[in-house]
Amino acid sequence: MSKKRNKTRVLITGGAGFMGFHLATRLAKQGYSVDLIDNLSRGVLDNSLRNLLKSKKIKLYKLDLKKKIKIKIFSYKFIFHCAAILGVRNVINNPYKVINNNVSLLSNVLEYAQKQKNLKRFLFFSTSEVYGGSLKKGLLKFPTSENNLLCLDELNNPRSTYMLSKIYGEAMCHFSSIPFTILRPHNIFGERMGMSHVIPELTKKAKNHKKVFSVNNGNHKRAFCYIDDAINMILKIMNTQKTVGKTYNIGDPRFEIKIIKLAKKILKILNKNKKINFIEEKNYSPQKRLPDMKRLLKDISFKFNSSFNYNLDKTVKWYEKN
Ligand SMILES: NC(=O)c1ccc[n+]([C@@H]2O[C@H](COP(=O)([O-])OP(=O)(O)OC[C@H]3O[C@@H](n4cnc5c(N)ncnc54)[C@H](O)[C@@H]3O)[C@@H](O)[C@H]2O)c1
Repeated sequence: MSKKRNKTRVLITGGAGFMGFHLATRLAKQGYSVDLIDNLSRGVLDNSLRNLLKSKKIKLYKLDLKKKIKIKIFSYKFIFHCAAILGVRNVINNPYKVINNNVSLLSNVLEYAQKQKNLKRFLFFSTSEVYGGSLKKGLLKFPTSENNLLCLDELNNPRSTYMLSKIYGEAMCHFSSIPFTILRPHNIFGERMGMSHVIPELTKKAKNHKKVFSVNNGNHKRAFCYIDDAINMILKIMNTQKTVGKTYNIGDPRFEIKIIKLAKKILKILNKNKKINFIEEKNYSPQKRLPDMKRLLKDISFKFNSSFNYNLDKTVKWYEKN
C-alpha cells in the first residue's frame, strides 16, 4: 500500500461487506484515509478484513446505523453508503425489517453527511432491482437505461420491500441538499461476496457430495460485472464533477449469460460431472437484467476489457479454498 498519506477522508458504511471492503482496499491503496462503519450483521471480520485493518489508513467502527452516528468527525470528503439489508432469502423472510431498516439507515447516514463541512460527494448504493416492477408490467426495455419508467411491484409481495426501500432512498438523496450520486449495481461478483449470491451458491452445490446438481431458474439471464470493474467505475464517478446529482447503472452488459450455462461453467472449473436438475422457483426472481451503460460511459472515461471466464475462474477457485 502507498506510504504517502492522503489527507482526504472517506467514510464507507457497510465497509465489512462485499463492495465496501473492495472499495476500502482500493481507496487505501491510493492513500486515502478510510473509516468503515459496520455492525457485522452480514459482513465478517475474516482474515481479509483483518489484514486490511493492519493499515494505518483504515479504521473500523462497529456501530449499528439504525442509531444516529455519534462519531465526531466532520471532515469526510466522500461518503459511500453501502450498508443495507439484502439477500433474497433475508428479504423474503424479513420484509418489514428490510423496508424499515434500509430507510432508517440511510436517513441516519444522510443526516450525518449533512453535517460534514466539506463534503464533495455522497454515493448511495441503490440496486438494479428498482427496475423489477417495470419488468413485471412488461415496461422494461433491454438493455435498460437509467431513465426507464420505474413501476412499483405489488406492495404485498415481500420481495418488493428491498426495491421499495431503494427507490425511496433514491428520492431521499435527491432532496438531501448535498452533492450526491446514485449507483444501481447489477450483479457484481468476485471474491468475498458472501454466500447468498448465485455464483457462490452454485459453487457450493457443485462441490457437495450429491450426484444431482439442482439449478434454480436456469433460464433466467444475468449480466455479471466483476468487482474490480465496478470499483473502477465507482472511483471514476467519485472524481468526476459532472456525475453529481445523477443516477448510473453499474454493470457489464458484455457478459449476459443464462444461469444454466453459468452452472455448467462452474462444474467445468471445479472438474465435476453431475446430473443437472432444473427447479423453477417462485421467489419472484426477475427473468432478466441487462444494464445500458451509455450514460456512464459518456460521463467518465472507462473501457471494459476484463474477461468473464478469467474472473469467474478466479472467484470460483477463491470459494473452493475459503
Ligand atoms: N453486490 C451486488 O451485486 C449488489 C447489487 C445491487 C445492489 N447492491 C447494493 O450495494 C450495497 C453493497 O452491497 P454488498 O453486496 O456489499 O452487500 P453486503 O451485505 O456484503 O454489505 C452490506 C453491509 O452492511 C452491513 N450492515 C447491514 N445493516 C447494518 C446496520 N444496521 N448497521 C451497520 N452496518 C450494517 C452488513 O453487515 C454488511 O457488511 C448494498 O446497499 C446493496 O443493496 C449490491
